[in-house]
Amino acid sequence: NMIEKKFYITTPIYYVNDVPHIGHAYTTIAADVAARFKRLEGYEVFFLTGTDEHGQKVKQAAENLNVTPQEHVDKLHQRFKELWVKFNISNSDFIRTTEERHKVVVCNILQTLFDKDEIYRDSYEGWYCTPCERFWTEKDLQESNCPECRRKVEKIKEHNYFFRMGKYQAWLIETIKNDPHFILPLSRRNEVLGFLEKPLEDLCISRPKSRLPWGIPLPFDEEYVTYVWFDALINYASAVGYGSDEELCDKWWPADLHIVGKDITRFHSVFWPAMLMSAGLELPLKVFGHGWVHHRGERMSKSLGTTIDPLEVVQRLGVDALRLYLVKEIPFGQDGDFSYERFEEPYNVDLANNLGNLVSRVVAMAEKYRNGRLGPVTSESGRLAEVAEVAVRKYSEAMERLALHEAAFAAYTLVDAANEFIAETEPWVLARDRSKSDRLHQVLSELVEAVRIAAVLLLPVMPRSAEIILERMGDPAVTGERRFHEATRWSTQKERILVRGPALWPRAVKGKAEVNE
Ligand code: ME8
Repeated sequence: NMIEKKFYITTPIYYVNDVPHIGHAYTTIAADVAARFKRLEGYEVFFLTGTDEHGQKVKQAAENLNVTPQEHVDKLHQRFKELWVKFNISNSDFIRTTEERHKVVVCNILQTLFDKDEIYRDSYEGWYCTPCERFWTEKDLQESNCPECRRKVEKIKEHNYFFRMGKYQAWLIETIKNDPHFILPLSRRNEVLGFLEKPLEDLCISRPKSRLPWGIPLPFDEEYVTYVWFDALINYASAVGYGSDEELCDKWWPADLHIVGKDITRFHSVFWPAMLMSAGLELPLKVFGHGWVHHRGERMSKSLGTTIDPLEVVQRLGVDALRLYLVKEIPFGQDGDFSYERFEEPYNVDLANNLGNLVSRVVAMAEKYRNGRLGPVTSESGRLAEVAEVAVRKYSEAMERLALHEAAFAAYTLVDAANEFIAETEPWVLARDRSKSDRLHQVLSELVEAVRIAAVLLLPVMPRSAEIILERMGDPAVTGERRFHEATRWSTQKERILVRGPALWPRAVKGKAEVNE
């Protein structure tokens, strides 16, 4: 690659016809945390998200509304775009599968594979599930119904086009086995390897236009459109100009990390690599299949009324509280739970009591005892410096493994230690004794430094709040200006001018004493 420190990260492109819910927000926030951390580390980052806009459901929904499918998706994709702005998602691009730049690449790849005889025409008979838009074999069916959605299936016999995926089976197994970090977490890797123990069949990549007209026509047979997954996966390549902008593509491809949910890990670690291999493109370096966010222990479902509208959560508790909760309280890779009952408690503890209160107290004490100005400290650094060093090390190491929850937890060890430090050193007692003036100065400086470093660590997780905290600690210039290693180095050698401001997370702080002296 042309640049050494580049990082290309993606989320799935979400089905445009679904209402964005907390599950979509979860994936996108996780990817945003990873992207922001890489930027802090000095990487040039391309962060992609978008919408998947073809297929039966879109066509159906548009028909019901008496609009064209294109009009429908032009309107609907905005809901995702707007949500990501609200959530402070730092995506570099937003791709839609109905865009020309995408359709061109899909056609290029299809034609290339057809010319290489990687795609062939054959007759096909199977059980078709219209809502899921896919075929099942007789033995896949459960009680004669679709094994995925449990609805009725139809027996269909027709001609279709097939991608020779089966021939990549041995290569796929070897590729996955040779790189223990290609599919993460380990449980997901094992699932995929388990799936690959059964014979891998060729993939049907077309649908007759007569049955499904809302898709990308096959360039070599206009009677057919492309199967939605073949279309959708290619977004990762079309967004960086594969086949159309060589320079851009050389710069970013291969993708460094595809973050997806466990439901679609197989598409990304079997179908997609086979497609890429066949087209002569490099494979992505990593696919991370995270767990499921449940609502009170149950699957979120629109029909059961258990979906959670992310906008409502944010209205109640704020963007950063939600980001912190999703990242810190759910081990990344495992299933987790979201409900207001479980959210409000950690929120109060982590934000209002621990962090919000800490920031208020540190600023208030610095104001009261030093007019908000702390000169350099000459004495040796104390215990908090050690805690900070360990926290920074654990945090970086966890981020490297994509253990996002551990990273957030490590940042909080520093917040907790700073709170304990206040209780132990009792700055308000030191302030009463003139001979303790140097000690008071040191205590305050160390507190400011601990809060500052905690805020740097929290920048990827809760960017807005962390920026405010850095500003209050008199060190607003971390983003972009300085790299992670420099910004997390303990230093009480600089003068800091603290900035007062309103309480952070006032809803939760309400009714609690702000400065406890
Ligand atoms: O599958 N918990 O789109 P999709 C956690 N268009 N994550 C969840 C979730 C939950 N309860 N619900 C959804 C598609 N997700 C295709 C993708 S990619 C080339 C094409 C997240 O709208 C999770 O990331 O159904 C999951 O993989 C994705 O949304 C599915 O989104």
